[in-house]
Amino acid sequence: ETEKKIDSLLSQMTLSEKIGQMTQLGTFADQDRQMIQEGRIGSLLGVIGADHVNELQRIAVEESRLGIPLLIANDVIHGYRTIFPIPLAEACSWNLTLMEETAAIAAREASAEGINWILAPVVDIARDPRWGRIAEGAGEDTCLGSEIASARVKGIQRNDWDDRPHMMACPKHFAGYGLAEAGRDYNTVDVSETRLREVYFPPFQAALEAGAGTIMAAFNELNGIPCSGSRWLLTDVLQQEWGFEGCTLSDWESIDELVQHGNAESREAAARLAVEAGMHMDMQALIYQEHLAELIRRGIVSEAAIDDAVRRMRVKFQLGLFEQPYTDNRLASSIILHSDHVRTAREIARQSIVLLKNEDDVLPLQETVHKLAVIGPLADNHEALLGCWSGQGRNEEVVSIIQGIRSLAGRHTKIMHAKGCGVIEGSDEEIAEAVQITLQCEAAVVVLGETANMSGENNSRASVDLPASQLDLLKAVYETGVPVVLVLVNGRPLSVQWAEDHVPAILETWQLGIQAGTAIADILFGRYNPSGKLAVTFPRNTGQIPIYYNAKKTGRPQMKRYADSEHTPLYPFGYGLSYTCFEYNDLRLSSSVIGMTETLTVSVNVRNSGQRDGEEIVQLYLCDEAASITRPVKELKGFQKILLQAGESRNVSFELSAKQLGFINGNNEFVVEPGMFTVWVGPHSAEGLKDKFEVKG
Ligand code: IFM
Repeated sequence: ETEKKIDSLLSQMTLSEKIGQMTQLGTFADQDRQMIQEGRIGSLLGVIGADHVNELQRIAVEESRLGIPLLIANDVIHGYRTIFPIPLAEACSWNLTLMEETAAIAAREASAEGINWILAPVVDIARDPRWGRIAEGAGEDTCLGSEIASARVKGIQRNDWDDRPHMMACPKHFAGYGLAEAGRDYNTVDVSETRLREVYFPPFQAALEAGAGTIMAAFNELNGIPCSGSRWLLTDVLQQEWGFEGCTLSDWESIDELVQHGNAESREAAARLAVEAGMHMDMQALIYQEHLAELIRRGIVSEAAIDDAVRRMRVKFQLGLFEQPYTDNRLASSIILHSDHVRTAREIARQSIVLLKNEDDVLPLQETVHKLAVIGPLADNHEALLGCWSGQGRNEEVVSIIQGIRSLAGRHTKIMHAKGCGVIEGSDEEIAEAVQITLQCEAAVVVLGETANMSGENNSRASVDLPASQLDLLKAVYETGVPVVLVLVNGRPLSVQWAEDHVPAILETWQLGIQAGTAIADILFGRYNPSGKLAVTFPRNTGQIPIYYNAKKTGRPQMKRYADSEHTPLYPFGYGLSYTCFEYNDLRLSSSVIGMTETLTVSVNVRNSGQRDGEEIVQLYLCDEAASITRPVKELKGFQKILLQAGESRNVSFELSAKQLGFINGNNEFVVEPGMFTVWVGPHSAEGLKDKFEVKG
């Protein structure tokens, strides 16, 4: 039915109208209305507000010749107005249901403002914390990242608030973007096809399997070909191998950048390369508008390629835009920042926090603390907590850390505050004031880290250390002898070795969105027992980067050394503490030998042996001991987040089948090879009970 409608429309379209459907404008201004009237724009990026968008849709539907509605795109990365934790933080909750929910809430709020296309989720696996966009993804691991990609797409496209679809997801950036050399955004990516297929492609496949109808190409070149002009990526893999029938979108002016990459000698050549590669929509470069008609007239590009791209706009039918292009302008006021959304923001923020250290049970803070020093440049800051790409989030809607602490501290606790230094610079006077205040208190919460614009697009860092002024402040406060809790606010893993060696308690809180202060106070005062686990490895120093848990084996594993640093991470992937303790016992395998198509059940007993109820994320890792292509030392293959009351035990079981046992071989085929496997089940990637089994051919 839809295809017939598309055929009929296509048969009526002029070449200019077809190219219009392949054009997205990111800098819409009033004088561009005429382009919509003439059918020369298919999508707008960044316009918001139901009335504004309705007016633009009206021009498209009523004043253009064929009345084709617009796709209204927006970068809704971790919330629209109700801002949730940055995606990397959310990933540390390992709570797929909750991540699906936050994506659905974001979509609902955005939809009330006329948006129908969300340019998310970011599904780039990232193993280099210097790269600023590590904040936007789900961390370093393919298994966790694929599950999260799927959950986020389902959330964005859940469309469950009335009986019609509203929102389309656009997983990005295809592909390998997180591999930018030296962590510098947009930089070269050179990676084997096997690794691409095994590590970097699966989250995209998961997102498409979950129903995403569009995908965005990455800025970077991949093995010599910029992604925006890569026929291999956009046609051979995406369309032919994976059967993708949706629409590919360039990144901002990235078709034009084929010239800067040195892959096309002119804008015209870039337009040709991109369209022939299978790039269906041009974001912002207006390069298709400028050159495609002439290229077709000269017979250089076939009109069939254009028709194929226009057919991809079937997403407009899937979204029901032809029947209902307009947004009810009464919705936003009752939907945006709804109390349920804010409650969910607090819940996901609490679950995203990772307790990295808690010596002598400094946390939760005891009622005996009558005077609490809250120190640091980010303690009374709102903007940092929103993180990068914070949509329509507003500083005044963020609960800062000191506000959260003040509102949850007991009536008898006096809160004293000093900034102590700036985020980047500080003075002796500021430090002296912080020391003075700390000396009057029984404990100090020191809030350090990064502002929102220290991560995100084009915000890479050459060092992942705490800025020197902040480390000086931390040392001075520590020297007072008052017990210190370090609260980290950041968009990437930081190398906080000095803090790990000295400070008794460390909380990784990332950038948690509008409910950050409340969620952090919930944890400081023991109203919530921390349950987050790292979705990314923390290095001891910048020189260790890239460092990730599932590295390949080497011929000399005992000699993985630096002369001037340990080679192990500061905190491994999957790590995170709780206010209670969990014991793992009784690892059992349903068999010690299985056939290649059989399933193995692995079970373990987990006991909460502490005094508090708590959640534990039970993780299963696997290693294929010898294979035709060398395998990583271990790989995550399953996880479960369980709630155990104090003293409670639970048997947790996992099923392992070919999907988990196999890998991509030298011919780029997925295979299971017979031989010995090691399995671990435990609390993180560096600890667990271990056993072996054999897969028989
Ligand atoms: O969607 C983004 C992309 O992730 C990075 N470049 C700009 C695009 C549009 O804002």
